[in-house]
Amino acid sequence: MSHARPWWHGEYRRARKSHRGRHLIPASSPAMLEHDNLEEFQDPANYDLEEAQNSIANGRFYADLAERVGGPVLELACGTGLVAIPVAQRGLAVTGVDASRPMLEHAELKTGDVGCHWILADVRKLDLDECFDLVYLTGNAFQAFLSDADQSALLAVIRKHLSPDGVFAFETRNPSAYDLNAVQDEERWFDYLNTEGCRVQVSGVQQFDEQARVMHWTTYRRWTQSGCERECVTRIACRFSSLEELTELLSTHGFSIEACYGDFDCTPLQPESEQFVLVCR
Ligand SMILES: C[S@@+](CC[C@H](N)C(=O)[O-])C[C@H]1O[C@@H](n2cnc3c(N)ncnc32)[C@H](O)[C@@H]1O
Repeated sequence: MSHARPWWHGEYRRARKSHRGRHLIPASSPAMLEHDNLEEFQDPANYDLEEAQNSIANGRFYADLAERVGGPVLELACGTGLVAIPVAQRGLAVTGVDASRPMLEHAELKTGDVGCHWILADVRKLDLDECFDLVYLTGNAFQAFLSDADQSALLAVIRKHLSPDGVFAFETRNPSAYDLNAVQDEERWFDYLNTEGCRVQVSGVQQFDEQARVMHWTTYRRWTQSGCERECVTRIACRFSSLEELTELLSTHGFSIEACYGDFDCTPLQPESEQFVLVCR
């Protein structure tokens, strides 16, 4: 089972062993949330400090893919452009769509003179008057689509915005590689220096909704600034899908899987691979 590694583009969040099924939240399908699932994405400069080093491998993977497939390119749930900007730096026209205004404003600040165009929208309702040769999601953003209906809406949007011979690619965590059991005692995940130069201790707890296949993480960030103890608490939910579920979903929307890797180095998928990296047409 997986141990601590950086999270969105790898994995810090992991579950310590506990008794299976003991601490589940009430089963619900689709997952009901008491938040907008965007709490993690309100502080983009610190998001980049936490994630930049961990987005190198996927950045290279999607940039290489984009170079092979050609543009224009659409990144859905693009965040601060950690991957979209390197793709655009390969000389391709990139459109990035995200539902978080702070993330996109930060992306805009970093864009420089590369060919990136940012759109604030909920991907599930996206309706652009343009088709793209490559559409991708990364940073495990596919897992933000929490129900069958959300995943279907996402796939329909992708189908609609993909050129006839276009490529769709994404990655999502392999549920078999993770211990999804509840962790109720706060676990220390990692620390980093924030934009103010303060060392932030990041820790969290998790609860898994077995029926909805949705993990609910609560993250605690604590630091000391000018002698004052500071704390920021955020919640996020992510859905875990099996390869069988993904294959069926993709097929329903007219996609077939052309390649399925276990990581961004294009290692063939193994049962214990931490991710499914899927390239579809
Ligand atoms: C983990 S971040 C990944 C960002 C970027 N792809 C990266 O690799 O850094 C997930 C992003 O998904 C966005 N997001 C979540 N649900 C969304 C939705 N329904 N429509 C658009 N963006 C969404 C969030 O705002 C956030 O920026």
